[in-house]
Amino acid sequence: MTVRWKVRFFDYPLQFRLQEEEYTEIIRDVLSRGAFILGEDLERFEKHFAEFVGSRFAVGVSCCTDAMLLSLYAAGVGPGDEVISVSHTFVATIEVIRFLGAEPVFVDIADDHNMDVDLVESVITPKTKAIIPVQLNGRICSKMDKLVDIARRYGIVIIEDSAQAIGAAYRGKRAGTFGLAGCFSFYPAKLLGAFGDAGAVVTDDEAFADKIRMLRNHGRGRGTDINLWGLNCRMDNLHAAILDFKLAGLDARIKNRRDIARRYHEGLSGLDGLRLPPPPVEDGDHYDVFQNYEIEAEGRDELASFLRRNGIETAVQWGGKGVHQFSALGLNGVSLPRTESFFGKALMLPLYPELTEDQVSYVVRKVREFYG
Ligand SMILES: Cc1ncc(COP(=O)(O)O)c(C=O)c1O
Repeated sequence: MTVRWKVRFFDYPLQFRLQEEEYTEIIRDVLSRGAFILGEDLERFEKHFAEFVGSRFAVGVSCCTDAMLLSLYAAGVGPGDEVISVSHTFVATIEVIRFLGAEPVFVDIADDHNMDVDLVESVITPKTKAIIPVQLNGRICSKMDKLVDIARRYGIVIIEDSAQAIGAAYRGKRAGTFGLAGCFSFYPAKLLGAFGDAGAVVTDDEAFADKIRMLRNHGRGRGTDINLWGLNCRMDNLHAAILDFKLAGLDARIKNRRDIARRYHEGLSGLDGLRLPPPPVEDGDHYDVFQNYEIEAEGRDELASFLRRNGIETAVQWGGKGVHQFSALGLNGVSLPRTESFFGKALMLPLYPELTEDQVSYVVRKVREFYG
């Protein structure tokens, strides 16, 4: 059946159309200068992004997966080490641990769908080298300060997977600034989306930033000398120019997302069978940026079909499975009851700044209709 969509889950062409002239001019400018690799646009974006996050350094790389791979490698994670993280995440968080020959160790999630920090200390062993908290759906883990304290006491580094949390804050500190490094994604659907893949590592540690800069560029420093084994994980200069332009409007777009989340919260609270993410608050510990609006819905598949029949597109994050539930990955012995139960009910409603008030009201009306 062909669906006549009233609310798309995401609308890339619309985003382009709304600022077509500006984007075309930026692309024309970069192309006419032939400034493709490691150009001044990249340096400018890195400076502005570091300022935005509240970090001393930002290094643009090819994607968040590479940001995490390089960060773990630069932190010395390798064979025999253990890295603590969650399974309510994209496979990228865990695959980089495995690619370095280390072992992922999972903890379950808390009520806000992020790492349950209270469980972390019980899985630390002498082999634990790093913790990757995943700041999912635009929210920093609750008790992030406790996690920082645990890591400090045990001499373990924190590498944040902040792919989904650009601009999110906890007690006034923005995502990416709690540990040795923060890793960001500029995948097109992200809060700050490039026109392709891109990512960044942020850190306050100058030597670490220098190392990431070399690792992303075949081990080179400023010249042609090779200082260490590296890779090619550079961010394209063209992406950097686009991202720098979009960064200037990011705070306004985040505010917009929070307004939509507030309307979802007000419209959908109190329905039996539905659990909502924490609402946006102004003066609390958390400043959430709502990369996604992920609800926990009884009858999730029926709700998704009902909404589809009514022209509303939804999505189930990562096909409805935690990383440990993909049998081909060989993590089958892992049991995470809260994560597994969550994935059985998780559904993402459309949430992006271009949504109109009418569209948001329509989604609210249809979800309410489904639950009678
Ligand atoms: C939580 C999380 N971690 C990591 C990634 C990987 O980011 P990238 O696609 O930029 O490598 C994503 C992107 O989808 C993500 O959502």
